[in-house]
Amino acid sequence: MPRILTSTGDYRLARRARAFEHNPWAAAEDLTGQHPDPIYFGNGAPASEIQPLDRLQWAAERAWVEVGGQLGYGELEGWGPLRELIAERMTRRGVAVGPSDLFVTNGSQQGIDLLARLFLDPGDAIIVEGPTYIGAMQVFDAYEASYITCPVDEHGLCTDALEEILRTADRAPKFIYTIPTFQNPTGYSISLERRTRLLELAERHDVMVIEDDPYGEIYFTPDTPAMALRSLSDRVIYLGSFSKTLAPALRVGWMIAPADLMPLLLMAKEGADIHSNRIETRIVYHTATGFLDDHVVAIRDFYRNRRDILFRALSEAMPDSVAVRGPDGGFFVWCDLPAGASADELLSAAAPYGAAFLPGSWFYPGYDGPAQGMRLSYSSLPEEKIAEGARRLGAATDAYLRRLGDQ
Ligand SMILES: Cc1ncc(COP(=O)(O)O)c(C=O)c1O
Repeated sequence: MPRILTSTGDYRLARRARAFEHNPWAAAEDLTGQHPDPIYFGNGAPASEIQPLDRLQWAAERAWVEVGGQLGYGELEGWGPLRELIAERMTRRGVAVGPSDLFVTNGSQQGIDLLARLFLDPGDAIIVEGPTYIGAMQVFDAYEASYITCPVDEHGLCTDALEEILRTADRAPKFIYTIPTFQNPTGYSISLERRTRLLELAERHDVMVIEDDPYGEIYFTPDTPAMALRSLSDRVIYLGSFSKTLAPALRVGWMIAPADLMPLLLMAKEGADIHSNRIETRIVYHTATGFLDDHVVAIRDFYRNRRDILFRALSEAMPDSVAVRGPDGGFFVWCDLPAGASADELLSAAAPYGAAFLPGSWFYPGYDGPAQGMRLSYSSLPEEKIAEGARRLGAATDAYLRRLGDQ
């Protein structure tokens, strides 16, 4: 369980303040203090080496000149040319939309928050993948959602289980939140067959689907991944982001939503932060124009190489009883320890070896899921650290499993 940082007894805070008591990152970071040169596989951020700094600086200068004295409040939906650029890129990826079908968000994280604001009363049921993205649960916790967890396997969200959940739910869930492509944390993608089934089920039970897709463009195979859910159904609200393809510091993402929800979402956005940053959106536009397509190709090669190094090193270093699964895209390798073993225990056991990761249990509501899984991110670690970290983790896992066997 991640450590609790504060006591909230004295301030008469809202009930939802409890949702902010856990700092999921602090516990893993504490453990890295046990070694002089720790290697931390927990950071799912993009690599700074591949971020196009020169181009961003050039675009920033252009943006400041162009914006001139127009530093007042601006368009609620975000700068028009950027929305046109996003619509054109999404249309090329099979999601045929125009600029008025989407608005700019402060990262896709804000999109999750705005949707939770709009949909959730305390206690409302939602369906999430198990495991799922910690940051989404941080939002849903704050809106006091009641979780129904649908299992995930190598082919993504299990639609048989989803069917059963929807058939037996005593209250209609408000939405299904899914990361269908190169999921955080497993790296798995939902197969095309299951995508179709998921959407049929959503239609039959009249449930909205939120598709969170920050990794969809970062694929390592010659073929593109399965079509975005939003390209198959208008019932899907789509969240996109420039965080993984350009840089998370920019905080620029977007949401594609049904036309009749758009006015409500824009008012929710206005209440949250009035509108997105007028300089940053120009910087993203000028950086991306005539550049992003090639840059994304370079990014795919860059992360594929890191995936290969981690997958190979773990396959060699981990005991045979550990299942190591390399993804076809995105930032994460998922491992499963044998039955009876716990990644939470291994996290502590690996700290003196100088290796840390995020245990799979943390990616479930209440940070309380099955103990066998572990997420290792290769995105932000240099190649030599990836290989060395995998060796350390392999040695720690071997020792831990032997000890467990002796008990
Ligand atoms: C699945 C998922 N959704 C959303 C986010 C947040 O992205 P952004 O930087 O666009 O807010 C992340 C970041 O890691 C993520 O993995």
